[in-house]
Amino acid sequence: MAPATRLDALNDLPISAFRAKLWPHTDSRFNLFGPTDQESWRLSLRSSDGISQSELMDCFKLLHHSSAADYRASADGWHPVKKRREMRLLDMKYILLGRSELWYPEVEEMCLPVYGFMSFMLTEEDGIEVVYCYEIHLEESVRGRGVGKRLMGLLEEVGRKAEVKKAMLTVFKRNKAAVHFYERLGYEEDEFSPRPKKLRNGIVKELDYMIMSKSLVSGVKNHDEGRQRKRKAG
Ligand SMILES: CC(C)(COP(=O)(O)OP(=O)(O)OC[C@H]1O[C@@H](n2cnc3c(N)ncnc32)[C@H](O)[C@@H]1OP(=O)(O)O)[C@@H](O)C(=O)NCCC(=O)NCCS
Repeated sequence: MAPATRLDALNDLPISAFRAKLWPHTDSRFNLFGPTDQESWRLSLRSSDGISQSELMDCFKLLHHSSAADYRASADGWHPVKKRREMRLLDMKYILLGRSELWYPEVEEMCLPVYGFMSFMLTEEDGIEVVYCYEIHLEESVRGRGVGKRLMGLLEEVGRKAEVKKAMLTVFKRNKAAVHFYERLGYEEDEFSPRPKKLRNGIVKELDYMIMSKSLVSGVKNHDEGRQRKRKAG
């Protein structure tokens, strides 16, 4: 069956074709801890069905370590089975961080242990084509060394090559460190992020999460996208 939309067609590409078309031609080896650590780290782009059970388990452990408490404290709660199912969604892509000497070139799919990862998807939100960052989690020893910024840069580059309008994500408001990190990279609360609700008894119900985004179209601010769309629809 022919793909229904332009993004479906991109999502349906085999990972080698997706990589050739949308992955920035960066050297994926780099160092994190100074010259003695030269070229010790690698990033690898995968599809959700090209990631092994052990790699997925490493990703899940990182996610659990940094975010399970935030989920538990949220209105929706923590649902590990549902989260594992989401992690295997067909169109989900992964960027895995591993040490290059622990990489097995004969098995491209093998990167253990996983020191950090990002998962993302090309999708539509509120009628706008976006690249959505589902997860970004790093092991504590590799935080604060620019890996998060590098991963977000790759996400945005994929989004630009796919010609989507925004890079987007959801963050728990109580995760102040992550909110600051995204703000530092130019993200702001999205115009479609749900606002606090005023209940009938007058109490204002704050939401525990927000949607943040960054325009990937040069010269266009996030909020212009929605306005243009509304104008078109009207
Ligand atoms: C959030 C996270 C991905 C950031 O990655 P990182 O590699 O540590 O961040 P970087 O070193 O790339 O920092 C990029 C910029 O963000 C800023 N930043 C990073 N962490 C920050 C923090 N805790 N508070 C304020 N600013 C921060 C840095 O100062 C840097 O700014 P600069 O470029 O002007 O120097 C990482 O710390 C992490 O995995 N945290 C736990 C998991 C998590 O909370 N994920 C988010 C779920 S929504």
